[in-house]
Amino acid sequence: MAYIVAATGNKHKLEEYAQLLADQNIQLKSLNDYPNYPEPEENGSSFKENAEIKALAACKYCDVPAFADDSGLEVEALDGRPGIHSSRYAATDAERIAKLLKELEGKENRRARFVCVIAIAANGEVIETFEGEVTGTILEAPRGENGFGYDPVFQPDGFDKSFAELTQEEKNRISHRANAYAKALEFVEDEMSILDDDF
Ligand code: IMP
Repeated sequence: MAYIVAATGNKHKLEEYAQLLADQNIQLKSLNDYPNYPEPEENGSSFKENAEIKALAACKYCDVPAFADDSGLEVEALDGRPGIHSSRYAATDAERIAKLLKELEGKENRRARFVCVIAIAANGEVIETFEGEVTGTILEAPRGENGFGYDPVFQPDGFDKSFAELTQEEKNRISHRANAYAKALEFVEDEMSILDDDF
C-alpha cells in the first residue's frame, strides 16, 4: 500500500480528495493525523508557490510524500482578485460572497475562473506541480447549499446551475481541483515508487 499525506485539514477539500482517490490503491492521510503540525506561512506570490510551500513543509514534518493544493477564484473585472487572497478576502464565506457581489455591482463582465495548483513533494523536495482550472461566471445572487467557499455564486461554463447546486460528484467531474488532481494522479501512477515510504 502506498501512502500520501494531503497537506490540509480542510474538511471539504479532504472529502473531495477522498472521493477522487476512492478507486486508487493509495491510503490518504491528512494533517488531522498530525495534531501538532506547525502550519507554514503561506507567503508565496502565486498559487504555485503557496502549494509548494505547503507540500514541502508537510513532507518534511511527516517524513512521507505529501501533496498540497492552493486554489482560489480569479475574477476578470477585478484584475484577477481575490486570487491567492481568496480565503483572506473577508472573514466568512457569506461575507466573502457579499463583498464579491458588491465589488461586481454594475460591472458587465462577470467572467471568472477557479484555479488550483497541486504540488507533490517527496524526499524533502518538490517533485512536480499541476494546474487545473474551471471557467465560468459570477451570478448576481447566491444559489444552492452544497460545496463551500464561493460555490453558490460561481456558475461553470456549460451549466445552468451554480457549483453549490451541483452534487459533489458532478462538481468533481469538472472542478479546478479535480482537473489538477487528474494530472497529478496520472503522474503518481507512473511514478508510484515515490509513495513507497512506510509510515
Ligand atoms: P486555500 O485553502 O488557500 O487553497 O484557499 C482557497 C480559497 O479559495 C478557499 O478558502 C475558498 O474561499 C476559495 N476556493 C477554492 N476552491 C474553491 C471551490 O472549489 N469552491 C469554492 N471556493 C473555493
